[in-house]
Amino acid sequence: MNQPGESFYVTTPIYYVNDRPHIGHAYTTLLADVLARYHRLLGVDTHFLTGTDEHGQKVAQAASDAGRSPREQADATVVRFQELWQKLGITHDDFIRTTEPRHTAVVQEILSELYERGEIYADSYAGWYSVGEERFFTDKELVDGKDPISGRPVEWLEEKAYFFRMGKYQQWLVDYIENNPEFIQPEHRRNETLGFLRKPLGDLCISRPKSRVSWGIDLPFDADYVCYVWFDALVNYISAIGYRRDDAGFARWWPARYHLIGKDILTTHTVYWPTMLHAMGLPMPKTIFAHGWWLVQAEKMSKTAGNVIDPIALCDKYGVDPLRYFLMAEMTLGQDASFSELGFAERYNADLAGDLGNMLNRVIRLIHSSFGGALPEPGPSEAVDQELSELALAAAAEMQQAVETMALDRGLQKVAEVVRGCNKYFEQTAPWKLAKSEAEADRVRLGTVLYSAAEALRIASGLLYPVMPTKMAAYRRILGVAGDEAEPHLDQLKQWGRLPAKGACGQLEGLFPRIDIKALEKELGLSAEAKPSGKSQAKQAKQAKQAKKDKQAAENVVIGIDQFRQVSLRTARVLEAEPVEGADRLLKLQIELGQERRQLVAGIAQHYRPEEVVGRTIVVVANLAPATIRGVESCGMLLAAKVGKTLRLVGVDGEIDSGAEVS
Ligand code: ME8
Ligand code: MG
Repeated sequence: MNQPGESFYVTTPIYYVNDRPHIGHAYTTLLADVLARYHRLLGVDTHFLTGTDEHGQKVAQAASDAGRSPREQADATVVRFQELWQKLGITHDDFIRTTEPRHTAVVQEILSELYERGEIYADSYAGWYSVGEERFFTDKELVDGKDPISGRPVEWLEEKAYFFRMGKYQQWLVDYIENNPEFIQPEHRRNETLGFLRKPLGDLCISRPKSRVSWGIDLPFDADYVCYVWFDALVNYISAIGYRRDDAGFARWWPARYHLIGKDILTTHTVYWPTMLHAMGLPMPKTIFAHGWWLVQAEKMSKTAGNVIDPIALCDKYGVDPLRYFLMAEMTLGQDASFSELGFAERYNADLAGDLGNMLNRVIRLIHSSFGGALPEPGPSEAVDQELSELALAAAAEMQQAVETMALDRGLQKVAEVVRGCNKYFEQTAPWKLAKSEAEADRVRLGTVLYSAAEALRIASGLLYPVMPTKMAAYRRILGVAGDEAEPHLDQLKQWGRLPAKGACGQLEGLFPRIDIKALEKELGLSAEAKPSGKSQAKQAKQAKQAKKDKQAAENVVIGIDQFRQVSLRTARVLEAEPVEGADRLLKLQIELGQERRQLVAGIAQHYRPEEVVGRTIVVVANLAPATIRGVESCGMLLAAKVGKTLRLVGVDGEIDSGAEVS
């Protein structure tokens, strides 16, 4: 959490200029933007850095493939990133290119100093080198004799090289990580780094011979070598804010609050970078946060896989803010998420065209028809009104907490609950009936209802502002939010009753026109005719329909506390998880319930990978009759929340023993 008076410095990875950006790059930068914008709403001194990683073999290779010099390659590609950030409304304070003198000179000074102090030394090096990953692998790391990351061939190389004495900091780093639980987030990534550090940590080769790679920063102590691209790139986080150049600026921002990264670059950020900083005598960044991957049909979206989604095309088709919203709402921070255009469209229709857009239309239409477009004054408040205001105010507090704990999707869910709460409020108070009545009391009541609903939407739209700045500014204008509050301050979202009564509401505009899903399915080749058909599918659909009906019916049934008590809900720790052969939806879990161990089969395989559930504390129905599912015995059932295609395990807040009663 940010302490009062502290600044907020957030960074993204600097992206390689070997190719144009895709949704994955857009995601990390958007996440940083949303965090930066929320902190500005909180009135925190904020600095947001992004940029490009322009040296090294990857970029040199891309340049030669394109028949140009590395510098031409960098100059041509950096524009793609800058254009995309502008299009997406990214509010970075600085953009660093590693070819800029403000960066290269600082890298050289750091190299010189570490060399003079004996932290860098010359030796010879031999190993399997991967061009794609620009790094050496040991025998053990190779998979079928190939690069374990890209699967491409490696070559055996032996050469004089310079090394950074990283190995000697191993114990220090382990202790630091153990003593600072916030340092690497989320927890499973922290464990991953600690696991990596259980093996002996070697020194880091920080040089590349110019004979092989000439595109880089010259080593100041040997003209035949350039600096290894990662040693150069990581320094951007401090060179950009004035390390060795502007002490006041540097002190204002360092240590960073967050280095945001994807999980693909965890080791460089949680092992190389901390030891480098430590050797320089600098404090550690507060948190290195590694988010999961955007997958396309279960594969990582990447240039190499050739399955990249172009953010520009999506923006042009659906608008910037809906894309910003989707990316933030769809990914649970720390886990992987799937991208599909259909999934995007479905969520857009449900959350934006449906809930958010629809609610505004209903409120504003009535204000226009019954009060000539002037927001009515609220009369005496009733219990339902109170409930709505409490829901909205709680969401403001919860969003702040969600931002501070990197649980943005949860914060957004709370806002969605406010909007749905408004809808329920309308059903309860039936303002359209009040509007038809001639009685003065009904007119007063109508004013209160419309004012309350508009207030709840003012708070909801303010909380969504950092995610959808353009759309929410328009939304707030239509609500009649006071001019200087169009861009809200969080304090204002924690107060009820700020909308000026008698103020003029705007005219409705179609902020979120509905996407025609049938037409989209056709366009994407997913329409019913294109889908495989057959009896079993029809049967499945029928079963699903029935299950949905049953569920809806259950929601209307009231049960007594005694009936509820018959269900034994307990916490359980997941010890092991593996797929169930031949069933792509199922995971087989070994769980611990206090002293007891059990096996349980859960239909979560399309939402969680086995390694993502191991170590978690979940909630299970412990007294469910055992069943055999696909030939595997299952004792109990875990709880999960589901909406559309999203499924999330139910857990507990904080740490608690397994076997604890949930009631
Ligand atoms: O690694 N899902 O640059 P890079 C989510 N230059 N995020 C993704 C993603 C995906 N499928 N694909 C990429 C480099 N990203 C180095 C970084 S930092 C000192 C040097 C995002 O162009 C994610 O943030 O390969 C990932 O870590 C980053 O892009 C990698 O970008
Ligand atoms: Mg990469």
